[in-house]
Amino acid sequence: MPDGVMAVILAAGEGKRMKSKLPKVMHRLCGRPMLEYVVKAAREAGIEDTIVVINPEGEMIKEALGEGVQYVYQRQRLGTGHAVLQAVDKIPPRVKTLLILSGDTPTLPPRLLRELLTVHHSRRAAATLVITRLEDPAGYGRVLRDGAGKVLGIVEEVDADPAVKAVQEINAGVYAFDRRELFRALKEIRPANVQGEYYLPDVLGIFCQEGLPVAAVTAAYEEIQGVNNRIQLAAAAEVIRRGILAEVMLGGVTIIDPASTFIDAGVEIGQDTVLHPFTIIEGASRIAEDCSIGPYARLDGVTVGPGSRIENSVLVDSKLGAGVRVGPYAYLRPGTVMCEGAKAGTFVEIKKSTIGKNSKVPHQSYVGDTIMAGDVNIGAGTITCNYDGWDKYETHIEEGAFIGSNTNLLAPVRIGKRAMTGAGSTISKDVPAYGLGLGRARQVTIPAWVKKKMGEKGCKVED
Ligand code: UD1
Ligand code: CA
Repeated sequence: MPDGVMAVILAAGEGKRMKSKLPKVMHRLCGRPMLEYVVKAAREAGIEDTIVVINPEGEMIKEALGEGVQYVYQRQRLGTGHAVLQAVDKIPPRVKTLLILSGDTPTLPPRLLRELLTVHHSRRAAATLVITRLEDPAGYGRVLRDGAGKVLGIVEEVDADPAVKAVQEINAGVYAFDRRELFRALKEIRPANVQGEYYLPDVLGIFCQEGLPVAAVTAAYEEIQGVNNRIQLAAAAEVIRRGILAEVMLGGVTIIDPASTFIDAGVEIGQDTVLHPFTIIEGASRIAEDCSIGPYARLDGVTVGPGSRIENSVLVDSKLGAGVRVGPYAYLRPGTVMCEGAKAGTFVEIKKSTIGKNSKVPHQSYVGDTIMAGDVNIGAGTITCNYDGWDKYETHIEEGAFIGSNTNLLAPVRIGKRAMTGAGSTISKDVPAYGLGLGRARQVTIPAWVKKKMGEKGCKVED
């Protein structure tokens, strides 16, 4: 770990340009809040202590990030320089170098932070900043240099005249600072600019005037792109998404069409699994080896055992064992457990139910609040009537039972081992093991009824 280094992440801005009720840094990319990526980058660069500067409305940030970092409040939004100053009392004396990051640069790689610290220390700089050159630098602070290439300072876009606006080198908002020099200079900056804010980058101009060494590290735009609006949010998410897909593919997973495949950060996928086009895997999902997912599948918080097949379906907070088949057109809702070899077929909805080993729900069924043992067959159109308008009730179906097509199971009800229900039955009482439950009106057949009717109506009746 780089000794005596601490990270301060600025996240107290209003994020006005996002036009959102949510704090900017809480907007999600590939399933995680923006700020989490920055915190993770600092941690993976070996920095153990991080302070996040939030505003008093940022309680949800604390809830999302938890205890792993420290928090300080910036009670008035007076600019990035003012935000850094709020952390001063939280930084222990042993810390000599501060890494200052923005909560809105989620694509930041840990490698770049390590490089930044290496250059900062080897040059014995008072400050080292990350810069990049852009064809269209609009929106970023421009880096001013003298003829010899020495950094003179940063000018924000809103304060820039046309000549400065033409400068293509931009400030990434990622810096290493000598702690002592930083806090000293921060007391000298003034809000004498269009926005009336205390700008952190003004410290660089002060250092330059004082003859203190300022170094720079160049990065690719993809590594430092800032998110101020929702167009930039989508652009940063795309960079993260491509990174996730690359990692998954290098791990031995085939992705037929990366352009239509979306995988959240932290999802695990086993070797030789194939992801077909239009597949979305979200939340804390884990897919084992040799599965086939998609086309058109959305899995959110789903665990899938090896060799399973899921097609054209939506699955949420469910657990699937090995060799399970789902879809096409199935909806597995939270609390669904499909044991090894189980099947949920076409137009099937399952909620908070266990489908036992090798049990099958192949067509047009609703199964809710049901505990089903193994080797059960559910006929087409079977419905568990689990709700009476006030409460939910359970259905129990034991080993090897056979539920006839179009059965209504009025819960609470229990179908015993190897029992059967007749097609079209409404089953309101338990059926014992090996028994048959029949609950339907008896058929009445009236011969020649149609002929008689046709005669009455004056239709010609042929033999
Ligand atoms: C900032 C830099 C700019 C740089 C760009 C890179 C300043 C003045 N400008 O501009 O030179 O090119 O980043 O992306 O620093 N924040 C606070 N408190 C505040 C204001 C901001 O915590 O009072 C936080 C924000 O939440 C954000 C970060 O600081 O995470 C940067 O603020 P933002 O308003 O996005 O600055 P930019 O205009 O992007
Ligand atoms: Ca920004």
